[in-house]
Amino acid sequence: MVGHTLIILTIIFFFLLNFFFFSFSSCSLKNFVSNVFLEEDLLQEPHAERCGSCHKDIHKDFKKSRHAVAWVAEHFKKESKNYTDEKCLPCHAAKPIWASSGFQEEPELREKHFEDGIYCVTCHFDPHRKGMVGPYDVWSPPHPSFQDNKIKSAELCGVCHQETYSEWVEAKVDKTCSDCHMPKIGRKHLTQKPPMSWFHSKKEVSSHEFPALIAKKEDIKIDLLRKDGNLILQLENIGVPHNLPTADQGNPKLYIFLYWEDGEKETIVLSPQKENSLEYKKPISFVFQDKGLDMIEIKRRLSWKEEPELISSLTYGKD
Ligand code: HEC
Ligand code: HEC
Ligand code: HEC
Ligand code: HEC
Ligand code: HEC
Repeated sequence: MVGHTLIILTIIFFFLLNFFFFSFSSCSLKNFVSNVFLEEDLLQEPHAERCGSCHKDIHKDFKKSRHAVAWVAEHFKKESKNYTDEKCLPCHAAKPIWASSGFQEEPELREKHFEDGIYCVTCHFDPHRKGMVGPYDVWSPPHPSFQDNKIKSAELCGVCHQETYSEWVEAKVDKTCSDCHMPKIGRKHLTQKPPMSWFHSKKEVSSHEFPALIAKKEDIKIDLLRKDGNLILQLENIGVPHNLPTADQGNPKLYIFLYWEDGEKETIVLSPQKENSLEYKKPISFVFQDKGLDMIEIKRRLSWKEEPELISSLTYGKD
């Protein structure tokens, strides 16, 4: 009797297993799991914190970025006249920038979560495909994901960084904005929420702090020419494939200080607002009465920083 029951149970078991495989085989098994684990609110453009419940480390980095404060930054609040100057608002709290093909030409102002500034949803959520666009082919049951190399393109950044983007196009280089401003940071996991995070293969993570970086000494070539009692200083940006400094609305500055042997000092200020930035590979010259050059210092000041930072310092005199 016991033997019979066992045989019948075994047959039922295999029948059910077969049924399961026929119904959910290959692709549809994945779909089935995805539907069970789908978290609907992720497709309703939630705030950054929500994405951060799984993408913990990326969210932590993002919070340190200027994008995260694009709306709440003091300068912006003041200069947009307390958010009343409407033309200022879209780039500082944009809706998703994906269009039905490629990107929107102009960003649009969203209706919620203003204080998140330029956040995850702005860059990753595609309302047309209804899912997240990213660089990898992933299996992400909580939300659909689409691998699309356009995420790495300069066009994405250019939706808002319009001036800088056109300078970059002129420079004709292969490196894109994210190659430099989103360096790989050696971390290997996209999510930090078990159990799902245990099963995912390793993938390179890019910096979501979006560092402004700082030019290297070699990026700015300095030539000195002496003629008829004059000193001609020639500067050329040979390393950064957009203007130095560059901006759409901010007011960053590049300072060149010349120290003469008599202790006097001369200052050149370059800025996008004065339209005299150093364009990529286009040298510019300044003529001075030669009083014996002691030292040149180059510093830069970002729009939102109080203090300038040193790029290079070169000593010439008395050797
Ligand atoms: C086309 C998109 C766009 C529009 C429109 C725009 N901004 Fe910006 N804004 C940017 C970008 C990009 C930056 C990043 C730095 C830069 O390139 O200037 C920025 C940076 C800034 C900064 C410097 C950052 C800081 O916190 O100090 C201020 C201030 C600012 N914007 C104010 C404004 C004001 C005021 C307006 C309206 C007159 C405005 N923006 C309209 C894209 C835009
Ligand atoms: C419940 C957890 C969870 C939440 C919340 C979540 N994700 Fe994900 N996400 C995942 C998983 C799992 C993956 C795949 C990870 C892997 O393969 O290592 C993923 C992958 C991604 C990728 C990579 C896609 C690719 O093709 O390269 C992006 C981009 C992304 N998510 C954006 C977001 C955004 C934006 C939000 C908020 C609207 C969000 N995620 C919220 C779990 C989550
Ligand atoms: C939807 C609009 C938008 C998009 C898209 C965008 N940015 Fe920005 N970005 C801004 C704004 C606005 C600021 C200024 C925030 C502030 O400082 O108040 C900014 C600031 C920055 C800064 C800091 C500049 C500084 O002065 O410190 C960097 C670097 C940057 N963005 C790089 C990028 C890169 C790289 C991309 C593409 C991967 C990108 N941005 C895409 C709007 C955008
Ligand atoms: C200004 C646009 C922008 C914002 C804001 C942004 N990302 Fe990204 N993200 C990118 C770009 C561009 C890449 C691809 C970088 C590459 O592969 O070179 C990327 C890559 C990713 C990846 C794949 C792993 C990696 O680092 O390459 C995940 C996951 C991701 N982002 C999640 C998020 C989450 C979560 C947030 C919000 C906390 C966020 N992103 C905010 C532009 C953005
Ligand atoms: C080859 C690397 C490289 C590429 C490509 C690149 N940048 Fe930069 N970027 C830099 C460096 C280095 C600086 C720092 C300049 C300095 O010393 O102030 C910088 C500075 C900036 C700043 C801060 C303002 C300033 O002038 O300091 C913004 C905003 C910016 N880049 C946006 C972009 C955008 C948008 C793109 C793509 C269209 C891009 N960058 C492409 C290297 C790069």
